[in-house]
Amino acid sequence: MDKSVKVPRIGIIGGSGLSKLLSLSDVRRVKVETPFGDPSDELILGALGKAQVAFLQRHGPGHQIPPAQINVRANIAALKHVGCTQVLSLSAVGSLREDCPPGSFVLVDQFIDRTIQREKTYFGRGLVGHVPFGDPVCKRMRTALAEVATKLKLTHVNGGTYVVMEGPQFSTRAESNLYRSWGGTVIGMTAMPEAKLAREAELCYAMVAMPTDYDCWYDSHEAVTASLVSERMERIAVQANALVEQVCAVLSAHQESCPCGCDRALDTAIMTHPSS
Ligand code: ADE
Repeated sequence: MDKSVKVPRIGIIGGSGLSKLLSLSDVRRVKVETPFGDPSDELILGALGKAQVAFLQRHGPGHQIPPAQINVRANIAALKHVGCTQVLSLSAVGSLREDCPPGSFVLVDQFIDRTIQREKTYFGRGLVGHVPFGDPVCKRMRTALAEVATKLKLTHVNGGTYVVMEGPQFSTRAESNLYRSWGGTVIGMTAMPEAKLAREAELCYAMVAMPTDYDCWYDSHEAVTASLVSERMERIAVQANALVEQVCAVLSAHQESCPCGCDRALDTAIMTHPSS
């Protein structure tokens, strides 16, 4: 690989919520091969102002990859390979709370992982590792997001629990109410195992969840459909782009080691004896 590809970068993972970065310059596309197979798409490298970034469309070109079939291990490995040290992930979600209406931004700080059929670790037989995960989101990144969201006067909530469901079907009303009773703030299908693998790869990770609907729990609002999600996301995309662009300027100044320890997660993680 061309050496200029590997510079400190911010990885940006877009989904149904953000399909392209409007102000990207010096754009070039790179195909990255990883030991875990192919990522969802070529990475789009470029500059957002002074920040070097790598953008990846999580669902691939034309939104062809369903949530459970995304090769997340390859996606995170590819971002690491081109020099990303921080990953900013965006995701369209359903809202489980009245005070997080469609069109708002939720700066998630916790997850409940309900996914069941996805590859969730880089470890395995031969190398056993358990990374700390009590605080799955990098606080330094989330603080930067909150400051920029405030400056842009975006309706946002700083903190919230993202329930990650397997899908692809949306939830039943009983499930939606159950997740509300668990303290869930938003529900979506893609944040896991992304956040887990980013931690194993010692990358700082933050999730911006963008509610497009009230799932199906809120009787006086229309229940979620795929068309509703697409239609509402088109409206939020301009604000999401502004948030990403401005936060990248702040994140690119993060040169020193992460105060939360995201970049040192493996220091305490390995169980396998070095001589075995
Ligand atoms: N993505 C957008 N809205 C959603 C919902 N209600 N449930 C799961 N994923 C979603």
